Amino acid sequence: MPSNSPADRVPTQDELDLLIYQSRIERPVKMKIPELCREERLRHIIFSGQFTADRLEDLASTADKIRALSRNREGQDFLLHLLNNKRAMLYFTQPSTRTFLSFMAACQILGITCNEVRDPTTSSETKGETRFDSIRMFSSYFDLIIMRSKLARLAESCAYLMNDLAESGNRSVPIINAGSGADEHPTQALLDIYTLQRTFQFSHPKDSPVSTRFEKLQNESPGLVKGLAHKVYGFCGDIGRGRTVRSLASLLANYKGVTLIFVAPNDPTLALKDDLRRRLTDRGVRLVEVESFEEHVDGKSVIEQLDALYMTRIQKEHNNSDDEAHFAQLDLSHCKLTTRLVARMKTYAPILHPFPRDQHFGEIPPEIDDDPRAMYFRQARNGMWVRAALLATVFGVEHQISRFFHDEYSEWHNYNDDQALTPPKHV
Ligand code: CP
Repeated sequence: MPSNSPADRVPTQDELDLLIYQSRIERPVKMKIPELCREERLRHIIFSGQFTADRLEDLASTADKIRALSRNREGQDFLLHLLNNKRAMLYFTQPSTRTFLSFMAACQILGITCNEVRDPTTSSETKGETRFDSIRMFSSYFDLIIMRSKLARLAESCAYLMNDLAESGNRSVPIINAGSGADEHPTQALLDIYTLQRTFQFSHPKDSPVSTRFEKLQNESPGLVKGLAHKVYGFCGDIGRGRTVRSLASLLANYKGVTLIFVAPNDPTLALKDDLRRRLTDRGVRLVEVESFEEHVDGKSVIEQLDALYMTRIQKEHNNSDDEAHFAQLDLSHCKLTTRLVARMKTYAPILHPFPRDQHFGEIPPEIDDDPRAMYFRQARNGMWVRAALLATVFGVEHQISRFFHDEYSEWHNYNDDQALTPPKHV
């Protein structure tokens, strides 16, 4: 009889592929971060842990400038010529709508030419070529590789491959992780943070020297401050397998006095995982884990005390053969938002979702879409701006954008309202 012990299990090709980088992969993230930079500049984008609060501010500022410049022909022409000597490969072997298209649009804004491999059956991997040979080939033709894979550590391994190539004097290009298995989705977290940064400026086009939206909100919610610090963030749904949750929660740990409330069934697959819990508590984040928005924390129901809510889908694509039957036994109704719950939320609290939402499960029913707090479509558009800012930063042209912006605009800065930005002098 063949033995079924784990020691006798034949490793999958995926596992074998990553084996050569195993010892580097197993190090704590902190040790890896310097290797992902070149001369202090971000080179490969693999983990959200690479972003400090200062870096997030800089990125938001670049994104704001790109979106403002994109509003007129002169700005568009300037941006189009910035990186028109660069080519990007979008290697997306896992399905994607937003990340793929917003990266492509971001490249187009900056004049970067794109190509794509989305279906590995159309590549020579079907002839036995390894992923690493494929990646090295892409680096021969392109200046940047943006990649999404179901394999958790593939993007990270590719960054090490590129570093090794550089060290041996070979051509090497930056790698951007556009989603890696159930592990990380750092650029999604960047757009989530950018959306929160803009929202928590609490600006309004009708703000005047005598009355602002922020002052009115402060009357409703004494103690309210601008910015991401000192806020209560709710995460609801598939916390255990949500790579966007992992990446965003890690970024929120950059901000003082935040509380993260995780709303998920008490189930080993769906609830918060030990490694993320440990990582967040080590950084001094206050964590609360509940099974329903109705539970009370600090004397108040969870739904009433959130400053922002991040909904997620139950990620069926990660189910193993037992999960479907197992989840059918669970009460997942608490993973759904309703108009009644939204009515009890703070008047300014944004509702985010990385999307896609699941129309069959219904974690956010469409009737919520018209609520001014429903931020998910704007959030997705913010992805284009922040990804353009990220590409500009990786290629080191963010200061050129800043200089051009300040030459063209006399004053600016209103995070909440595009129209409130001062129009360019020549319009
Ligand atoms: N949020 C997100 O990653 O969406 P896509 O899977 O459509 O890229």
